[in-house]
Amino acid sequence: MSEAFSPKHIVVTGGAGFIGSNFVHWVAGNVPQVHITVLDALTYAGNLENLEGVPGDRMDFVHGDICDAPLVDELFAKADACVHFAAESHNDNSITNPAPFVRTNVEGTFTLLEAARAHGTRFHHISTDEVYGDLALDDPARFTEETPYHPSSPYSSTKASSDLLVRAWHRTYGVAATISNCSNNYGPRQHIEKFIPRQITNILCGIRPKLYGDGKNVRDWIHTEDHSSAVWEVLTRGRIGETYLIGADGERSNIDVLRAILSEMGKEADDFDWVRDRPGHDRRYAIDSTKLRRELGWQPIHTDFAQGLRQTIEWYRSNQQWWQGAKEATEAKYAKQGQ
Ligand code: NAD
Ligand code: DAU
Repeated sequence: MSEAFSPKHIVVTGGAGFIGSNFVHWVAGNVPQVHITVLDALTYAGNLENLEGVPGDRMDFVHGDICDAPLVDELFAKADACVHFAAESHNDNSITNPAPFVRTNVEGTFTLLEAARAHGTRFHHISTDEVYGDLALDDPARFTEETPYHPSSPYSSTKASSDLLVRAWHRTYGVAATISNCSNNYGPRQHIEKFIPRQITNILCGIRPKLYGDGKNVRDWIHTEDHSSAVWEVLTRGRIGETYLIGADGERSNIDVLRAILSEMGKEADDFDWVRDRPGHDRRYAIDSTKLRRELGWQPIHTDFAQGLRQTIEWYRSNQQWWQGAKEATEAKYAKQGQ
């Protein structure tokens, strides 16, 4: 096992989003004496409320864009590591308007890598299992670190592009980088455009949930807190230049997840609408996280999906002010797409 890296000051890009904010809370709660600088543009997906409760002496917030090279340079000069979450993250949005995905996910990652190269900053890149494309429903295979890249959507192709930039900056310039590719996250503070919170908030608003296509697509669900703990392991003990897949053996079809939400919220199993499928919709994702578990000894703690889902539903029920403002516009956008 490689020697542990102990950063004292990390820049977390996208730290006001869903997974980034969870990571900031996780570090503040689990690792003493690390200062966090959050760099976030506060797009529609970023929300400062997500960082409430993080002690002020552990974190400072910079409202800015990862494509702003002078700003990024200034922040990297003061930090010893960057954990890069900032991205345009939603597949459906990438299909209607891919331009911001290319800018933030590709140009933004390039800008950060240039600063990491200039300052010798340790760089951990957060990526997705979607870079590998999809698997058939009847295929026993799961993605590994050796699976060839085969992204399907504008979103996943920009994430694949950013992964390749990170690999090239490591190999050519010696940037001390690692990459992790994680499966579908769930938990509190996820934007309501995404599958699980969209259906929960639909039910809370008296709107029928919406299921794409035939509902048989499979996603490999992981609680966002387990993603955070895995990222910390890779940042501090992962081998430089390596990729680690993060997953918690949570494969489930969309219809099964929806029926679990309906049942938990006191609705009938058929209380939902079938809607137009997503163009190019990936069939199945599945992660083999053996490398992460064997090499770094990581284990998920949220292994009971039903319980995690119950807690997530409860969070959206108790935090209506967090999502209500975005609900109408989110549903209007989907209605336009026939979804
Ligand atoms: P999110 O959309 O909830 O949050 C993204 C954050 O990035 C927001 O706070 C937003 O304001 C910020 N941001 C966007 N553009 C920016 C820019 N140009 N400059 C600075 N900040 C900017 O996303 P998420 O679901 O939390 O995903 C975080 C990361 O994890 C992404 O890189 C995503 O590809 C990856 N990922 C997500 C999942 C998932 O299930 N959501 C799974 C695997 C990997
Ligand atoms: O696999 C990791 C990826 O997971 C991340 O890289 C992405 O950032 C994240 O958004 C997520 O991508 P998906 O496209 O899998 O997530 P989404 O929540 O959009 O959809 C999950 C599944 O549910 C997918 O098969 C589409 C389907 N779906 C989605 C919505 C919003 C529906 O059936 N109905 C819906 O209303």
